[in-house]
Amino acid sequence: MKPLTREITFALNGRPRSVEIPVTLSALDLLRDVLGLTGTKYACGEGECGACTILVDERSLCSCLLFAVDLDGRAVTTIEGIATDDTCAPLIQAFVAAGAVQCGFCTPGLVLQARHFLADNPAADRTAIKRAIEGNLCRCTGYQKIIDAVASHVAALNVPEGRQDARPRR
Ligand code: FES
Ligand code: FES
Repeated sequence: MKPLTREITFALNGRPRSVEIPVTLSALDLLRDVLGLTGTKYACGEGECGACTILVDERSLCSCLLFAVDLDGRAVTTIEGIATDDTCAPLIQAFVAAGAVQCGFCTPGLVLQARHFLADNPAADRTAIKRAIEGNLCRCTGYQKIIDAVASHVAALNVPEGRQDARPRR
């Protein structure tokens, strides 16, 4: 029997997309397998690791836990949508410079999560950074270099404390 399908329309990285999909398809499988956006990673599949992090209407969510049909009418941002913007490219460079990337499997989720957090907290300290990325697991780095990377990016932003609104929100 053919699976039940439904057409959904949503904004993907700022561009409208319409696609007919099985109603049981996950948002992660839609992005990776149907739309070819493989920057969003599949790891645990259970909402535990953050490798599949995406933004849905500016909320950071695990795409492995979402049905694709729930993206209907939403604005979705993946790592591909922000990788070259003027706030994210320096953050990625900070990851590289700090040696915070080994196998790289966790990196898209971490970068997306950090970039999302720093949009509202551009003067965050290490404690706040740790808290912000605690849902994103990394098997390789021991986390210190990741925290170093985000902290060095914050230092480079040089936003005075108390001026959390000094950076544009995207
Ligand atoms: S793959 Fe979604 S949280 Fe791990
Ligand atoms: S760099 Fe390998 S899981 Fe993080």
